Amino acid sequence: MNVILGVGGGIAAYKAAELARALMERGANVQVVLTAAAGEFIRPLTFAALTNRKVITDLFGTGSAEEVLSSSVEHIRVAQENDVLVVAPATADLLAKFAAGLAPDFLTTLYLAFTGRVILAPAMNTNMWEHAATRENVAKLAARGNVVLPPDEGLLACGTTGAGRLPDPAWIAEAVVTIGERRKDLEGETVVITAGPTQEAIDPVRFISNHSSGKMGYAIAAAAACRGARVVLVSGPVNLDVPYGVELVAVKSAAEMRDAVMRQLPEATIIVKSAAVADYHVANPAAQKLKKTPARMSLELDPTVDILAEVGRNKGDRLLIGFAAETQNLVAEGRRKMETKNADMVVANLVSKEGIGFGSDVNEVTLVLKTGEVIALPRATKRVVADQIFDHALRLRLALHARS
Ligand code: PMT
Repeated sequence: MNVILGVGGGIAAYKAAELARALMERGANVQVVLTAAAGEFIRPLTFAALTNRKVITDLFGTGSAEEVLSSSVEHIRVAQENDVLVVAPATADLLAKFAAGLAPDFLTTLYLAFTGRVILAPAMNTNMWEHAATRENVAKLAARGNVVLPPDEGLLACGTTGAGRLPDPAWIAEAVVTIGERRKDLEGETVVITAGPTQEAIDPVRFISNHSSGKMGYAIAAAAACRGARVVLVSGPVNLDVPYGVELVAVKSAAEMRDAVMRQLPEATIIVKSAAVADYHVANPAAQKLKKTPARMSLELDPTVDILAEVGRNKGDRLLIGFAAETQNLVAEGRRKMETKNADMVVANLVSKEGIGFGSDVNEVTLVLKTGEVIALPRATKRVVADQIFDHALRLRLALHARS
């Protein structure tokens, strides 16, 4: 994917360097265009070194006749060669110029010449973001089909707290890839994904849980959204941003997760159960905080409902993908779980292996398929693993349909 990264002149311009890198990590070719104001905050050399490409900084170059002639059509060439224009940070000034169709410099001229997808990531002081003029400009741009990624809330560079902060560059990069991705082989599907741990209350302040960070499930949700699916992410408590275009259903306990999944079931065409669901919950959680005493204490635990197995019993013609977190006998346990829970595929994860599984950014899994195939995927980022899971799942569905 060819992406133009337009950088406006705001304090968040420094984050655009991270965004350039995050886009390239996702396979994009990145052409950076800096406004003159952006050049005051961050030097072109930073972007040139990161992208290994000349950075465009103004409309007429240095002013020599030769350069004026070649640069006078450069905005047309750049517009034609790229699929997506992302502007981050999009300042109030840039939003106003885009909305009004003004073209005093390269980026604004390029905006007018560009016919691909436009993604704007505004960042500014809260009062500027909430000003009626900015609101009107944003509404006008959104009505024109530009995607406006709303700024985060938090502490701003100006010292105030409120909406106006540029979202995490990795999150923006994922949104750009999701919007610009041409492969839409999950269009028309509703993919329900579970992620993260569950928390089983002991009393109002304590719970039993596990080490799941949610990264695997969130990566699967991002991949599915990117490929065009409607995605419902049923997530236990985690500290992650919800991927662009994904609907979140936040839950805490296994019982809540079960109810949320069963509510989504009628619409679902693919279900992916990557959550680390507690196998037991406290039989009688205390209504008040338990007092500490010197005596030994024991908890009575009851089994939780097995959500994967319940979905398996009501699967219909849905594709059901389970996970198996194992410390030994990976394939045998994965196959046993697939058969007993009526899943079509199990993603078996050797969580005792160093550097993968719980909490890490990478994973190394073995796919156990209903067709009898066993496919060991190489170690890769969870996002890459997520795409490979869908590649094999779609192929598996075709094979299963051909058999029936
Ligand atoms: O979240 P991360 O930090 O990125 O880590 C990723 C992961 C290690 C959590 C993930 O890759 C993984 O292995 N998830 C499955 C964890 C698990 O609970 O495995 P299990 O073997 O105990 O359960 C088997 C399957 O049954 C799973 O699909 C699980 O979601 C499901 N299950 C389990 C218990 C239960 N009560 N209901 C269920 O649906």
